[in-house]
Amino acid sequence: MSVRTLQRVVPSVLSSDGAGVKLRRSLGASQGLRHDPFLMLDEFGTDNPDDYIGGFPPHPHRGFETVTYMLDGHMQHKDHMGNTGDLGPGNVQWMTAGRGVIHSEMPRQTEGRMRGFQLWINLPAKEKMKPAAYRDIPAAEIPTAALANGGEAKVIAGTLAQGDAQTRGPIQGLSTEPLYFDLRLPPLGEFESPVPAGHNAFVYVYEGQAAIGDKPLPNRAAGLLSDGDRVQLRAGQDGARLLLLAGKPLNEPVVQYGPFVMNTREEIERAVRDYQNGELTGA
Ligand code: CO
Repeated sequence: MSVRTLQRVVPSVLSSDGAGVKLRRSLGASQGLRHDPFLMLDEFGTDNPDDYIGGFPPHPHRGFETVTYMLDGHMQHKDHMGNTGDLGPGNVQWMTAGRGVIHSEMPRQTEGRMRGFQLWINLPAKEKMKPAAYRDIPAAEIPTAALANGGEAKVIAGTLAQGDAQTRGPIQGLSTEPLYFDLRLPPLGEFESPVPAGHNAFVYVYEGQAAIGDKPLPNRAAGLLSDGDRVQLRAGQDGARLLLLAGKPLNEPVVQYGPFVMNTREEIERAVRDYQNGELTGA
């Protein structure tokens, strides 16, 4: 049994994407700043409509999965498959771009707070060209586990084990075996959970303060963890809200060009060509 320690901090940098949506990007802020299989993590959060009103007009993806988790506000998803999804508070959208998706995510509000996360998870080479898939997961289908030492965890992907109690999230059975937990810890609350050894894990504190061992986790930064089979966290005086993510590394070459993530340069060139020729999605 070994407890994971804080190994590296990837601060978030202010960035913008889509049609001028302001966000904070930690993983993915520069080429190579990844934590296999995690390619990118964006946090968006603002009360100012100017920061989000442009939304994300139609754009492509190929070769990986995008996961949007809303805390506040409303966005609407539309894609080339004809799916329309309402992204409201607590909802998750799990989209497997596979061979290709063209989609938009546009705000369904003109004022008020918009807050949430977008995570990119890589696909193994043998799944990069599989058919696109899209899944809307309403907040009511995401189980909340009461934690042994107070607080709660929303289990979005994988299974949270607390002693003999298991809480299974709606996303299971993917090749990268992702764990995606949203934790709310009370003041000085302690959290412990098994995480499979050999999988890459990181935490992202978005409210309050938390620490791993005697090392404080900077706010709004990806704290990459060492290997080990357990994660232990402790919240600060004001409690904390944070994401805990883990996944099985692919250990394959990554070649990225914007919204296309493949294994070789030739595959990227083909993605660009397919997109230009209207053949990205295979439709
Ligand atoms: Co997108």
